[in-house]
Amino acid sequence: MEPTNKNYNRYKNYVFRRQTTAEQIDALQSFEVRDSDVYLITYPKSGTIWTQQILISIFSMGGDVDESKNNLFQMPWLEYMKDEFDYTKRPSPRLFTSHLTPILMPPGVKDKKPKVIYVMRNPKDNVVSYYHFTKGCSTLPDTGDFSEYLEDYLKGDVIGSSWFDHIKAWYTQKDQYDILFLNYEDMVLDLKGEVVKICNFLGKNLSEADIQNVVEKAVFKSMKTDSKANYEFLEKRNISVTFMRKGQIGDWKNTLTVNQSERIDQLIKEKLGDLPLKFIYE
Ligand code: PPS
Repeated sequence: MEPTNKNYNRYKNYVFRRQTTAEQIDALQSFEVRDSDVYLITYPKSGTIWTQQILISIFSMGGDVDESKNNLFQMPWLEYMKDEFDYTKRPSPRLFTSHLTPILMPPGVKDKKPKVIYVMRNPKDNVVSYYHFTKGCSTLPDTGDFSEYLEDYLKGDVIGSSWFDHIKAWYTQKDQYDILFLNYEDMVLDLKGEVVKICNFLGKNLSEADIQNVVEKAVFKSMKTDSKANYEFLEKRNISVTFMRKGQIGDWKNTLTVNQSERIDQLIKEKLGDLPLKFIYE
């Protein structure tokens, strides 16, 4: 691991939080993947804990999850794996979360073709969300003001590295995975439609009432007060942080200047212009 300018840890061209070690990441190369696993992949602040809640609810309909446990236990991050999660002994189907890029993933995710769901969010709302999260998180380095943070974000000196590289890596390698791409904004605009899309991808045949139930548990208002889903339980570990902030499309307009917004538009053209990706900004 090499320290970055912001004092994160860089390893294999990816930026991790300071506590992560090379051994933890290398261990994923021998992580035993099951074809029944489900992997949720996101760049940070793209709707991770939201989609976790949806997936956990969908699987709980089949009695496949222990609902007394919080969502971090139900669907642990590959890169933050701890023995207490007991993932090797878990019955199938196992649910996992990750912010990693394809090259860092366990090779079995390509070989055994478990289901992978990738959620992306427009970079303008993404950076604003990430700024507030980092600023408010007691264990992360100081952000400086928004314009300083934007430079770090665009350089990829934040956990998860560059938003552009993350999306590009997953999208250009999609044919090697059994993968569904979703957009945060589509989830905001039509949550039920996206829940149905996820169920179809997973081969889950839920009743109308069960789908409604999944949707109700996943709306912002419900998650805000759902102590298993909103990560307030991290406060018990002395980590003060807010995951459920606004949950909106277009909040970036309250923060980004016209120049900053145009700069992001230009970078999207340069870095992702050849990919058929469209982002919704309002
Ligand atoms: S993390 O730290 O990477 O796991 O964060 P992540 O969960 O990916 O992203 C947090 C943002 O997702 C918003 N969120 C939601 N939006 C709409 N509906 C629901 N149910 C929901 N749950 C989480 C959360 O509010 C963060 O976005 P911002 O813009 O900061 O509000």
